[in-house]
Amino acid sequence: MTTVFREDALAGKTVFVAGASSGINLGIAQRFARAGARLALISRDPERIAAAAATINDAGGKAIGIAADVRDYGAVEAAMTQARDTLGPFDAVISGAAGNFLAPAAAMSANAFKTVVDIDLIGTFNVFRTSFDFLQAPGASLIAISAPQGEQPKMFQAHACAAKAGINMLIKCLAMEWGPAGVRVNGISPGPIADTEGMARLASTPEMEARVKGALALRDYGTKQDVADAALFLCSASARYITGTILDCDGGALLGDASADALKKSA
Ligand code: HXC
Ligand code: NAP
Repeated sequence: MTTVFREDALAGKTVFVAGASSGINLGIAQRFARAGARLALISRDPERIAAAAATINDAGGKAIGIAADVRDYGAVEAAMTQARDTLGPFDAVISGAAGNFLAPAAAMSANAFKTVVDIDLIGTFNVFRTSFDFLQAPGASLIAISAPQGEQPKMFQAHACAAKAGINMLIKCLAMEWGPAGVRVNGISPGPIADTEGMARLASTPEMEARVKGALALRDYGTKQDVADAALFLCSASARYITGTILDCDGGALLGDASADALKKSA
């Protein structure tokens, strides 16, 4: 199978990515750079975000890396000011910073719950709210990285489920309010994605990994490239009439348990 995207789909565009020092978000940034975009990347750790930007610059692209914590509105605003002054107003913004760990709710401190909600949900508000004053609009595309957990309750992830559910609603509210300004707001909900910190935390043994894959309709983990292609589509002119949606890029995860056992039981 081949992809439908032109090599220069994002030529001349500026894209801001929050939480971009690793994993899915870095994969999106690298894919967008190959499509011709200039990238501004933020994450908490100065060395990790500088290294992430270097992977793009070393491959012939253009990226700057800035250390900023999405929980700190002022820091996000300062990073966006620096990014806009260096690269120009943003045609697209990706909000994907997140934290997650497995913990039973009864053993979770108030600060543990708050920390994940602060990074994922408040962080996404901070990134999108700040970006509104820095956008190339009309025509700008905002994408939040959600998860099936935003709709599907999961044991030991009360914090992440609540945060991602909040993100899903935030996407829809902002899409309504900002549509008239020519700003589209959507989400991508990745399923289990290979070679990521997220899956290292959620399915840490080969047995758990096999169980997760065996319950998916498509029977495999997705790749960072799968999520990046979904993001590229949502930022493209082909998605000009799409706003307020959560695009499931999840191998069928949100559909529920499609394991051989579950299929036998329902037959
Ligand atoms: C219980 C825990 C815990 C654990 C931390 N805490 N880890 N509680 N079980 N495993 C508690 C701490 O004790 C503390 O509460 C509070 O959480 C804050 O912890 P800090 O370490 O001070 O927070 P911070 O330094 O801000 O780090 C945030 C973090 C950390 C979320 C805790 O893991 C992190 O930096 N994560 C970023 C990387 C990541 O998570 N990647 C995966 C995202 S992907 P007290 O009460 O002691 O002060 C993902 C995938 C699947 O989300 C999609 C699902 C939605
Ligand atoms: P990851 O590599 O750990 O990515 C998380 C990123 O967020 C890192 O770059 C981290 O960098 C940054 N970050 C964390 N806290 C931050 C903060 N307070 N301020 C700024 N940046 C912060 O994890 P991933 O698995 O690729 O997940 C990426 C996104 O996809 C997340 O939104 C996650 O919920 C979502 N997702 C993942 C999966 C999966 O299978 N992995 C499935 C569904 C959804 P620093 O440490 O340098 O700050």
